[in-house]
Amino acid sequence: MEERAEEFGQVTRFTIAREVPMDAAAREALLDRAMGRNCKRKSSEKLRRGRMPSEGLSFVVRDDAGTLVATVRLWDITAGEDGPKSLLLGPLAVEPSLKGAGIGSALMRHAIAEARRLGHKAVLLVGDAPYYARFGFSAERTRRLAMPGPYERERFLALELEDGALDGAAGVLKASGRKVPAASTSLAA
Ligand SMILES: CC(C)(COP(=O)(O)OP(=O)(O)OC[C@H]1O[C@@H](n2cnc3c(N)ncnc32)[C@H](O)[C@@H]1OP(=O)(O)O)[C@@H](O)C(=O)NCCC(=O)NCCS
Repeated sequence: MEERAEEFGQVTRFTIAREVPMDAAAREALLDRAMGRNCKRKSSEKLRRGRMPSEGLSFVVRDDAGTLVATVRLWDITAGEDGPKSLLLGPLAVEPSLKGAGIGSALMRHAIAEARRLGHKAVLLVGDAPYYARFGFSAERTRRLAMPGPYERERFLALELEDGALDGAAGVLKASGRKVPAASTSLAA
């Protein structure tokens, strides 16, 4: 797999890379540390379960020693009934001891840029609006859309990568990604 990487930070060097199957255990452990098992009960999880992440859109951040310190994945969805193809972002998590160092922002910007480069038109997520607003997300374009389970409306956010991509989109989001092959669970979490 082609690996795109970039560096940021001044003291410790961090690298953003595509997630690989060998990252699975470290990623699961990081998610447990960063957010507990709550992320598995979210309505977002209904759109992820049994599906593969969108091709080329799972990223990790590693430190100099190669330790995985952050993760984000994007998932293929349909935005409502016969709606436009879109992406669902999440979970995003950063090693708790490294919070506030800019890792989450760098990872978000990289993921959004890659989604745009791959031709995707819109990204949706459920998360803290004050954090995601800095990347252009708002609840404005999700008013007529719904998650397939309980969620707080003000946390249901979207970013159009192409102006008007979500025009007319209405209804419940649906998973549209590749199904996890029966014999493999390594990328299914
Ligand atoms: C939320 C999270 C991904 C942010 O990553 P990070 O690397 O700490 O973020 P950055 O260093 O890039 O950005 C820090 C800035 O975001 C702000 N911020 C962080 N979390 C925030 C939140 N939940 N709401 C509003 N602002 C937030 C900080 O105050 C800081 O602001 P500043 O730039 O004005 O000082 C990380 O804290 C995390 O993993 N949290 C637990 C898991 C989680 O909540 N994930 C998101 C929902 S799925």
